[in-house]
Parts: sequence; structure tokens; C-alpha cells
Amino acid sequence: MTIRLISLCAWTLLLFGQTKDISGTWVAKTATPNGEVEIVYELKVDPSGKITGWQKLPFGDSPIVDGKITGNKVEMVVETENLGTISRATATAEISGDELIVTPAMPAGGRGRGGRGRGMAGPFTAKRGTPTPTYKAASVDYAKLPKLELPAPKVIPPNGLAKTPPMGWNSWNKFRTKIDDRTVREIAGALATNGMRDAGYRFINIDDGWSWKRAEDGTIMPNPNFPDMKALAAYVHSKGLKLGIYSSPGPTTCGGYTGSYGHEEQDAKTWTAWGIDYLKYDWCSASRVWKDEDMRAVYQRMGEALQKAGGKIVFSLCQYGRDNAGEWGNLVGGNLWRTTGDIRDSWQSMSTIGFSQSDLAKFTKPGWWPDPDMLEIGNGGMSTTEYRTHLTLWAMIGAPLIAGNDLRDMTPEIHDILTNKEAIAVDQDKLGKGGRQITREGDTEVWAKPLDRGNTAVALFNRGESEANISVKWATADIGANPSVRDLWAHTDLGRKADGFSATVPPHGVVMLRVSK
Ligand code: GLA
Repeated sequence: MTIRLISLCAWTLLLFGQTKDISGTWVAKTATPNGEVEIVYELKVDPSGKITGWQKLPFGDSPIVDGKITGNKVEMVVETENLGTISRATATAEISGDELIVTPAMPAGGRGRGGRGRGMAGPFTAKRGTPTPTYKAASVDYAKLPKLELPAPKVIPPNGLAKTPPMGWNSWNKFRTKIDDRTVREIAGALATNGMRDAGYRFINIDDGWSWKRAEDGTIMPNPNFPDMKALAAYVHSKGLKLGIYSSPGPTTCGGYTGSYGHEEQDAKTWTAWGIDYLKYDWCSASRVWKDEDMRAVYQRMGEALQKAGGKIVFSLCQYGRDNAGEWGNLVGGNLWRTTGDIRDSWQSMSTIGFSQSDLAKFTKPGWWPDPDMLEIGNGGMSTTEYRTHLTLWAMIGAPLIAGNDLRDMTPEIHDILTNKEAIAVDQDKLGKGGRQITREGDTEVWAKPLDRGNTAVALFNRGESEANISVKWATADIGANPSVRDLWAHTDLGRKADGFSATVPPHGVVMLRVSK
């Protein structure tokens, strides 16, 4: 017995002897498609050996809630957030001399692996050090976060904005958080002169990455990449355009920048004073504070704040299609609601998202639009045919047309897609009805969208890998006999067609028609 006890103590001592204290800040650098990024671990090992701290990736900071060291192996339980879902994943590391070879924890099935997590799977060599300063918010201690009171449900009268789906540009798809005043001005200049403004594009929307910290009185400050928001808004307005901004109902945005938690009224006033015309309000860290069923009340807080501040700001709800926002979002002052997770610049992502939007037509009406995320047209991951399908599908849905490419540098083909006025007219039709799938056969789908004056837009989509012949009978789309038909991509009148229409459609392509009485 005594011998056993002694040997146990010896083992314990040996283990303890080997256990290194890895408390402190560790930094790894890696190249990604969006430039070099840092992966940071802030670790605290308590006397019992438990590890807590933060894992900081470019697309979000996640608390480490548990962890242990066994020999030179480290395990850390990280509470990740992905599109409103909090889950736990394990980051691992190996202590090797004075380095830590880390394999980050990625959120299950989404944000990490998709677009922004690209190149971040590891393992990476981290060294003790000081991360390059960023303008991100300080880490939030959620246990100590003051609770906010949520309002009782109330119907906020419509703000009268976005009578047709908003059109414009947003910085996220191309620039991520590497966005600044100069780029925004240059994009505004390009949009105002390259024919896009004339085609209907108006909003220049800054996404994540502009905010910094709060002044002593709580006023939100833009970071030094945006020296003067009021001047920027004036500049954008001088081009006949409107300026949009981005925030979160949580304390931080998805990228870890300051959000509007507890400052809703103050921020709405600040943005109004700057001359902001559009707000994308992204759930992000709010999922660490609230449940999905609180969403309505949480968005209502901002809806009321915007109304109080003058009601001149288009209110875009971004909560990834959770909690049936199509049903209640316009009652809290919303003009559009995000219906899905984040789009990526691939056929797979775009088509999966786009073709799943047919059921949303029942909610769509002037001032209230489904948002299947911003356009990837021109970002390089799809063919011209696929980008044409992208614009067509978004127009058929009645979705916002928010370009996401670098407008300063576009090929003529991309420019022609983005400025196809006939396709845009389908999106912007003043009747405000959503389109829907009317038939589906194998890899082909026919969609119809009722238009003003009893006309109809019809799209023959080929989702398959080989050419397909697609037909539509007018009766299935509630269209009377012998209408006249115009091809909206070929820009040609096809004459009157008795009881239907067929066309040969290339793989991943579309034929888009305007069918008039
Ligand atoms: C979320 C949104 C994206 C973008 C990023 C910014 O993922 O869904 O559209 O705004 O956050 O971090």
C-alpha cells in the first residue's frame, strides 16, 4: 500500500514537473486568400491545471471555457459561434520547446470552414508575443455583461423606405474587414460613373470593420480607417448615392468589432447625424446573450431607436434565416431580412441558396424583401453563365441587388450582367411580388414572377451539368394564351407564342423572359 502511494506521488510529481505553464499570449501568422492573418491564443492556466482564455481568429474571437495539459499535449474547449449557433469545439496544441503548435477549433459546419476560415485549419506554429494591434473591441466578459431589458412586442409603423428591393454595393464579399474611407470613395465614384447608378444601384454599404471604441459619453467612434464618417456620407451623397453602415445587437460584430449592445438609441442618433441611409444589423455575438425567441424584441429595440432618430434609415435584419423573421421582421421596422447563411463565390453555394427561396414569396411585399445575401458576381469563382443565373435568380426572388465585387476593376461581361436593365426591371417591379418555382423536372426548374400590369417574368433554369431542353406551359404560370415574349438576356422580341415556350439552356444557365399580355 505504502509503496503504491509512493509510486503514485512520484508519478504525479513527474507529471507536474513536465507540465509547462503556457499562460500568456501566443501568436501565429499565416497567409490566407485575404492576406496574412494572425491567430492568437490568450491563455490562463489556473493552479488546478484548467485552461481558460480566448482563441482569436480573423472572423471572430471565441472564449476558451475549459482545457488541460497532459504532458506536452494541450486540449482547449472553445465556445464558437456560427450564424447564431453556439457550439463547443476542441483546439489542440503541442508544446514544443518555446513554441506552441496549435490546431484551432473551428465552428461546426460553417463560418470557420467556409469563406473566412479558409487557410485557417492549422496546425500553426505560435510563439509568445504581442499581436499586431487591431481596431477590434476588447474581449467581452459575458458573465459580467449588464442585462438589457427587452421591450414588449409592439408594431412599428413602416418607415416607407425600400419600396422596391434595395440596390447598391457592399464591402464584405470582396474586402472583408480590410475596408477604408478611400476604397469606399473610389467604389462610389466608380458606381456613379460606370452606368450602375443609372441602372438603379444607389447604396454604398460599409460592412464589418469600420467601428472602433466608444467615447467617454458612449458615442461610437469609427476606427482610423474612416477618419470622418460625416464627410464620407456627404461625399457619397454628392455622387447621388446613399451610404450604409453595419452593426450588431450584440456587444461585438461577427468580426469582433464594437456592436450596438446597450447603445441602440445612441448609435441610431449618431448614424442619423452622420447622414447614414441604411443599416445592416447582424446577430453575431447577440447569440452569446440571447436566444432565438428573443430576436423579435432585440430587433425591435433597434427598430424603435431608428424610428426615434428620424426613420430615414433602411433597416436590414441579418440573422441568417433564424426564427422565421419573414413573419415578424417588418413589424419591428425591418425592410429586409436575411434568409440564409453566408454566400460564397461558388456555383454550389449560390445555387443552393438561390433555389431554396421559392417559399419566401408569401412574405414579400413593397418595403419587405427577402435577402439571400449579397451578389458574388465578378468575384471570380463562377463562370459568366453562372453569374447570369445568379442575377436572374435574385431578380426573380425580388431580392436586394447588392453587388459585392471591386467595381473599380470589372470585365465588360461582368459589367453587362450587373447593368442588364431588363433583368433589373424584373427585380424592381413595383408590384413587389416574389417569384417562385412553378415546375421542376430533374435538374431543371421554371420560375414565374407576377409583374405589374398583369405581365409575368418567367425563367427557365438548368441546374444540371449538360444542356437541357426546358419547356413551360403558360397555364401553369397563370398566363393567358398567345402572349408576346421577350428574351431579357438576348434583348430580343420573340413574338407571340400560343400556349407555351421551350428553349435549349446551357448547363448552369438560364433563359429569362418577360411575358406580356
Ligand atoms: C456575417 C454576415 C456577413 C458579414 C459578416 C461580417 O457573417 O452574415 O454578411 O456581414 O458577418 O463579419
